[in-house]
Amino acid sequence: MARVSSDHEHFSSRWTFILAAVGSAVGLGNIWKFPYEAGQGGGGAFVLVYLGFVFLIGVPVMIGELAIGRRGQSSPPIAVANLAFEEGRSVFWSILGWMGVLGAFLVLSFYSVIAGWTLDYIFKTVIGVTGQVTAETSGEVFGGLLASWERMAAWHFLFIAMTVFIIARGVTSGIEQAVTYLMPALFVLLIILVAYALVAGEARQAMLFLFQPDFSKLTPNVVIQALGQAFFSLSLGLGAVMIYGSYLPKSVSIPRSAVIIGAADTVVALLAGLAIFPLVFAYNLDVGSGPGLIFETLPIAFAQMPGGSIFGFLFFTLLTVAAITSSISMMEPMVSYLQERHYVKRVKAAIGVGIAAFVFGLGTVFSFNIWADVKLFDRTFFDTLDFVTNNLLMPLGGLLVALFVGWAMRFASVREELSSVSDGFFARIYGLLSVVCPIALVLVFLNVAGLLSFG
Ligand code: TRP
Repeated sequence: MARVSSDHEHFSSRWTFILAAVGSAVGLGNIWKFPYEAGQGGGGAFVLVYLGFVFLIGVPVMIGELAIGRRGQSSPPIAVANLAFEEGRSVFWSILGWMGVLGAFLVLSFYSVIAGWTLDYIFKTVIGVTGQVTAETSGEVFGGLLASWERMAAWHFLFIAMTVFIIARGVTSGIEQAVTYLMPALFVLLIILVAYALVAGEARQAMLFLFQPDFSKLTPNVVIQALGQAFFSLSLGLGAVMIYGSYLPKSVSIPRSAVIIGAADTVVALLAGLAIFPLVFAYNLDVGSGPGLIFETLPIAFAQMPGGSIFGFLFFTLLTVAAITSSISMMEPMVSYLQERHYVKRVKAAIGVGIAAFVFGLGTVFSFNIWADVKLFDRTFFDTLDFVTNNLLMPLGGLLVALFVGWAMRFASVREELSSVSDGFFARIYGLLSVVCPIALVLVFLNVAGLLSFG
């Protein structure tokens, strides 16, 4: 039996856990990244491959990660060490937990900078800047933000401060309270935006683009991109899911929760696509414009449509809300580790991690301006962080989760943790986790290695 330490907090219900976990999953990944990656990856084919990865690889890894967290009842490094000990395995497995704490911190440092852009765009819609942009000036407006490190650093600071504020209050009064209000708000905003876009934009063209696969667009690169995106979007492999798992009451079914979380995350990504692409098509904008899609491209549509400034305001508010319910899950692993292992008070731990993430995040801020020419293997500081977390740490974390649960843990322990489902369902999860996931993830690594050496 896994021990339950008395000072380890727990979510108060299955529902608040689901909200928090969906909150972690739904973020910039769904609304900023997914649409532009789908746009660059040719639409439908990317979406289809992505869906396959979410359910065949993402959900099983999520089940494994939640199971480790709940059985280990601690912050990721200690949770994994506890379990390894219990299962008679090497303590070296705890590297999985360490990678998580470190990786989630790295993601937080740059995630906050991009979330800062969304804050800047809320501000821009309020003061009316976005009401005047045109196809010619929108790039300059976005470029102006990227060129000003002071401005980016200020928003980055504000975003980290909001994250610290929530995390400092703890699991039930911080994380739970926040998601209880923010998640319904997010859902309502999203529905309004989708309804508007479908009515006012080119709904048919957007649907065809997203749902009609053109397999000639599938390259190995697009496939890897889709897997990376599935991991990022589900917050996998970096301890965020694991720490929420450790706060999960014993009575909640892990496999069912994971399926719900995976489905909700996917629905939001597709809805985000349906909020964005009808407008992109209606105003003849470029679907493949990349990371600038929602900051550079979409405002052109907002400026032209009736009521566009309200629509723009709602859109960037939605994005900020989604980002904050994600960033808290990136800060939590390290904060809980400091608190449980080093007896640092939660408030102090949150402020300390916040300061560190802010300072480290300045590297990302500078990547867009004063350090734009500082490159390692042809990548800026930000590109390097993005690559290391998305293409190395997350898939590696996923691989280790799959190997740990599928091979290092005793079958009986895994079955006990996942006892809520039938033998048939369990057999499928176990097969995916122990055989399919490791093979798929190793293939991805071979490819990433190939990309590394061939540029
Ligand atoms: N899933 C979030 C998104 O889609 C990002 C995220 C939240 C994340 N927590 C994480 C990514 C932990 C990696 C690790 O925006």
